[in-house]
Amino acid sequence: MCGIIGYKGGDQAVSIVLEGLKTLEYRGYDSWGIAFLDGTGLQVKKNVGKIGNFKGFKALPEANLALGHTRWATHGGVTQSNAHPHLSNNKRIAVAHNGIVENYQALRKRLQAAGYTFHSQTDTETIPLLVEDFLKKGDDFPTAVRHTCLLLEGRYSFIVLDADSGQLIGARNGSPLLAGLGKDEFFLASDIPAFLPHTNQVVFLDDQQLVLIDSALRLFDLRSGKQLPVKPQKISWTPEQAEKGKFPHFMLKEILEQRESVSRALVQDDEQLEKIAQLITRAKQTVLVGCGTAGKMCLAGTYLFAKIAGRQTHFCVGSEFPNFAPFVGPDTLVIAVSQSGETADTLEALSIAKKRGAKVVSLLNVYGSTMMRQSDYNLLINAGPEKAVASTKAATGQLAVLALLAYATAGRLAEGRKALQIASAALARTLDDAQCKRLKALAQKIKAKENLYIIGRGLHYPIALESAIKLQEVSYIHAEGFAGGELKHGPIALIEKRTPCIVLAACDETQAEVLSNAMEVKSRGAYIIGLAPQDNEVFDLHLPVPDLGIASAIAELVPVQLLAYYLAVLRGNDPDKPRNLAKSVTVK
Ligand code: M6R
Repeated sequence: MCGIIGYKGGDQAVSIVLEGLKTLEYRGYDSWGIAFLDGTGLQVKKNVGKIGNFKGFKALPEANLALGHTRWATHGGVTQSNAHPHLSNNKRIAVAHNGIVENYQALRKRLQAAGYTFHSQTDTETIPLLVEDFLKKGDDFPTAVRHTCLLLEGRYSFIVLDADSGQLIGARNGSPLLAGLGKDEFFLASDIPAFLPHTNQVVFLDDQQLVLIDSALRLFDLRSGKQLPVKPQKISWTPEQAEKGKFPHFMLKEILEQRESVSRALVQDDEQLEKIAQLITRAKQTVLVGCGTAGKMCLAGTYLFAKIAGRQTHFCVGSEFPNFAPFVGPDTLVIAVSQSGETADTLEALSIAKKRGAKVVSLLNVYGSTMMRQSDYNLLINAGPEKAVASTKAATGQLAVLALLAYATAGRLAEGRKALQIASAALARTLDDAQCKRLKALAQKIKAKENLYIIGRGLHYPIALESAIKLQEVSYIHAEGFAGGELKHGPIALIEKRTPCIVLAACDETQAEVLSNAMEVKSRGAYIIGLAPQDNEVFDLHLPVPDLGIASAIAELVPVQLLAYYLAVLRGNDPDKPRNLAKSVTVK
């Protein structure tokens, strides 16, 4: 939530920060701003709206020191004065902040009592004013920032620029921040793609660390002030992977990338998989934890473990995990699933689990993420950067790895990998122009509908839930997923004449019953869209999906993602940046 970037080096700081902000926009896009130091002093430019819509880039002067912010509002409305960067009263200090200063009210009162003036309603503005106050009391800039951090409560990361010394500092406590090392230039950002066109040498900060940039980059422990060794790592992502290329939107690019990304997810180290499988077998209970789409994939995981390995596992939404904490102990294994590895609710669950002695395995896409560094074991889904807010290729990657892990738990890893590889090749073949045309035509037909329902049974029930999220977040149509058998217990009252209802009818033990459920809603006037290997008389429209056995669930996700995408475009929505949402939800 919120993207931050800082740069010190050559004289293109403004362009580099503005370009980086465009890359970070998926983290928040209600307003943006930049601060830079040119010959005349500290300059600030802020705007409400998306940075992509701003036309005045060329008019901005260049500098060699700058920081920027793209906002997803928490404290204070979406206004120019609430947009970051925020300045100290003496205009020496500029701050771009991601996260929440939970004790900002107390800090605000204290600063006001000391004579400081606030120009925004944000929690962030306390930071530059505290730094100014510590500087006045005699601290040098790095010490003033460190002392400020020690007063802040909550999860945050921020970048702070000092116009007097020309230094840049990044501080991290719970929200992502990394540094990039170029040739005579340094970067700070919320994520790697923000500076990937310039360097792939990355320093991952841990919580309670501070990085100081002047002529070199130095790392410090926030509490003790002790200097720490800097250990850069080379990242394998390429800049092209993080760009739209020939596609109109990231979402479409990422949906189509599933032709290869599912097979990349299957490239896992056997030893690691078997080690984790052993942990699952030995644990008294295994709990899969995730939020949103990742949560739905966790729920699907419980069906996969039951079906493939005959093993019961549990699912808990990240934000609800604290309510079950008393039942978590050293004999519990927690599997945290997250694309970003930065979701606050999942991170909190992970931290509770660790405190209670549980082992934690993370299933992630972003290398070096907080979850990765806080887990005992990791599996990466290798999907490459996912930039669209709606998760697509990460979801299918998560499902593929969970299936592989279930096979490993059943002691049938080789068989499972082969089956999943065949499935991924078949999926790639069906993700073609004809498929896109069919989904586009369907989107055209139902684009004016207000409600849409999706039903599935067994493993297809979590897929129905995930389908609903996808449709909601980008098309803004009210979509809901149900277990097929649940309709008659209430939701069937929602069905009206021509209400679209997507039926997930794979060739498995759920097929006959879900077709009966389809008949029940059709009798009440619903328009039935069958996602199934074969046509059936109950379908008003048949969308073919390949019969891939257990992997049919993966194949069902893709057409719904495409439908959601085309609906978004036809309804005039931006599928990459849906309203009210941000890609990484780093607040609770
Ligand atoms: O990065 P994570 O996988 O932890 O994110 C979890 C959810 O915020 C995420 O899946 C969200 O639901 C997506 N926008 C759904 O498409």
